Amino acid sequence: MTKTLLAGVSQEKYLNSDLDVLIINNQHCHAVIALQGAQVLSFKQKKSGKDLLWLSKGNTYQPSKAIRGGIPLCFPWFGPAHMKTGPSHGFARNKVWQCTNIFVHEDSHLLQFKLRYDDQTLTLWPFKFELVMTIQCGELLRIDFELVNLDAHPFLFTFAWHSYFKTQISTTAIHGLQELEYIDQLKDQTQKQEQNILQVDQEIDRIYPITKGKFCIQSEDISNIYISTNTQSAVVWNPWIEKSKTLLDIVTDDWKNFICLENGQVGKAGQVLNPQEKIKYYINIGG
Ligand code: BG6
Repeated sequence: MTKTLLAGVSQEKYLNSDLDVLIINNQHCHAVIALQGAQVLSFKQKKSGKDLLWLSKGNTYQPSKAIRGGIPLCFPWFGPAHMKTGPSHGFARNKVWQCTNIFVHEDSHLLQFKLRYDDQTLTLWPFKFELVMTIQCGELLRIDFELVNLDAHPFLFTFAWHSYFKTQISTTAIHGLQELEYIDQLKDQTQKQEQNILQVDQEIDRIYPITKGKFCIQSEDISNIYISTNTQSAVVWNPWIEKSKTLLDIVTDDWKNFICLENGQVGKAGQVLNPQEKIKYYINIGG
């Protein structure tokens, strides 16, 4: 059942699953945001009629199970859990967030979501925190991340917006990584330097700890996607043929239709936050 919350905002169970989503519709865009993870699943710009984001057809949309596609948030760690316990890429994408505010503006909608520590998060990561994500859906998609340390001790965190952009992988070129140092996660974490505009013709898993925060993804039949952010790191990932066979939520050959260009604070760009300290990041995505 669809429930209208405000002009241009409704709530429903996604594809009749148990997961709630908010549907946003205004003059510039049509977007879908899951309360689990405060995860943008779809962002369609009306000027092109095309979705900038890829969402896997293999998702089962079960509570607490990470949704493959859209923009999952990796937090409070990026990558496998420390000490090998806890979920890959942190717990934020598996938790249901609280939608605390919705503002209807003339040409956009602004939605705020909150995630606060609880008994379960404290067993996985022993720190008290509050994280607010503000998602603005208009001509562009803008996401703001605001984290406060509510603990008595400093903590170190890493995070990333693990965006799955819709592309045709065989013709994809990523601008903005030239001359940057990267860590090749497929080759024993060796450190290398990217030379050219990046094109992908095999499995890729690279961490660029420090970037300039401006990127463009070009791909045939798809309008350019522009990304700007004040976060420092980027990650480029595509599982290609063999790895995607091991990922049960990617259906045959669908790995050809996306590239993950992830942005955040990863690896040596992880941040220490002192008690009561607040830190803010943003990302802008547009076609
Ligand atoms: C990328 C990592 O960010 O996410 C990869 O660099 C990882 O190593 C990929 O395989 C997918 O992770 P997950 O947990 O969503 O399957």
